[in-house]
Amino acid sequence: MNPQLITTTEAIDAVFFYILGISLLLFIGVTGTMVFFVVKYHRKRHPEPTSDVQKHLGLEITWTIVPTLIALSMFWYGWQGYIHLSTVPENAMEVDVTGRMWSWSFEYENGKTSDRLYVPVNTPVKVDIHSTDVLHSFYIPAFRVKKDAVPGMTTYVWFTAPDIGSYDIFCAEYCGVGHSSMITTVEVLTRDEFREWYEKEPAAESRGRDILSRNGCLGCHSLDGSSGIGPTFQGLYGSSRTVLIDGEEQTVTADEDYLRRSILEPNAELVKGFQPMMPSYEGKIPEEDMEAIISFMQEISEEEGLRGGPESAGQEETAKPEETAQPGEDEDSKEQEEEQKQEEDVDVEALLQEKGCTGCHSLDGTRMVGPTFKGLFGKETTILRNGEEITLTADADYIKRSIQQPQAEVVKGYPPVMPPSSDLSEEQMEAIVRFLEALK
Ligand code: CUA
Repeated sequence: MNPQLITTTEAIDAVFFYILGISLLLFIGVTGTMVFFVVKYHRKRHPEPTSDVQKHLGLEITWTIVPTLIALSMFWYGWQGYIHLSTVPENAMEVDVTGRMWSWSFEYENGKTSDRLYVPVNTPVKVDIHSTDVLHSFYIPAFRVKKDAVPGMTTYVWFTAPDIGSYDIFCAEYCGVGHSSMITTVEVLTRDEFREWYEKEPAAESRGRDILSRNGCLGCHSLDGSSGIGPTFQGLYGSSRTVLIDGEEQTVTADEDYLRRSILEPNAELVKGFQPMMPSYEGKIPEEDMEAIISFMQEISEEEGLRGGPESAGQEETAKPEETAQPGEDEDSKEQEEEQKQEEDVDVEALLQEKGCTGCHSLDGTRMVGPTFKGLFGKETTILRNGEEITLTADADYIKRSIQQPQAEVVKGYPPVMPPSSDLSEEQMEAIVRFLEALK
């Protein structure tokens, strides 16, 4: 087998079908012979027991050697496949992938980084696999490659993508609560498109974002205010935070020092309502990256402050204080609002979690078993009612109906698997509706 000539998919599929074919032959052969003997030697035809057959050396040798050869041929063919997967073509492009709880990030030879794997079509690509924390497994079903990401060790896979398109990448090793969010894609581009993408300098303002993405921060912290495993970064800078220091609640301002402390010693000051699960980034983020992160945080929070004013004017108590807060506004009232907001949010989120809603509906736009909650409120939604497609606006009534009788109107493209929740109080329903409204 010449690795230059066939892809990993072709190599694996050939072995798979070879073994499947032999298994089918054996299955049919054994079952067929059995049925044949049952009929042929049925008691009706042979009322007397057959004579005691003595040994037949030739036959015994045959049925020992033939299966041995078949088993060895499967081994040999499989071994060839393994060699093929392990032998990287010489002209392969190299990309580093780092798995961490809970995201993948890619780094190319020219230093460019991304959270999807971009590759040119018909080009062998070698992916060097690293892990910063626990075992993960880098898995691209379309190219039949899967390899563990092991902390302290570099593993690799290679593949050639024969067709342009987008293919799933999964983590195939259970690695904690965020395991299922370790999903990204291989984007296979034409060579020209790839070169253009590869050579494009990242815009200056996206550098901070790149660093966050590369270090896996965005797996847990959103940029759009939606809740994740950790607090959102939106409006974080300059806001006041209620944190737990040695188990005691204190209010601190999220300034530059606070951000540095949170990155280097995340669990020393834990934001109230969140779990202490962030790893320390001590020694992992160079000073210039740290500065880029901090100025990025400043930027996105300033933008929020400017944008928030007029937009949120019409909203009621659901408006986020970070958005309404103007520079120079009274610290105390800001703090109160902040606390009030946190309490409200935490309640509904805890409720959604307790009732299992967030197991199927994401809050950040990710598609899961059910539609995401983000942007749901007020959206045009196509549903099936009695088998007929109907387009309606997701208003408060619709949301309440969907909770109480989820099967009556199933959103198009989703399976009808949600159980009805009838044990929610009217206040809880209202709170959920308000929460979804705010999650636009
Ligand atoms: Cu990483 Cu599962």
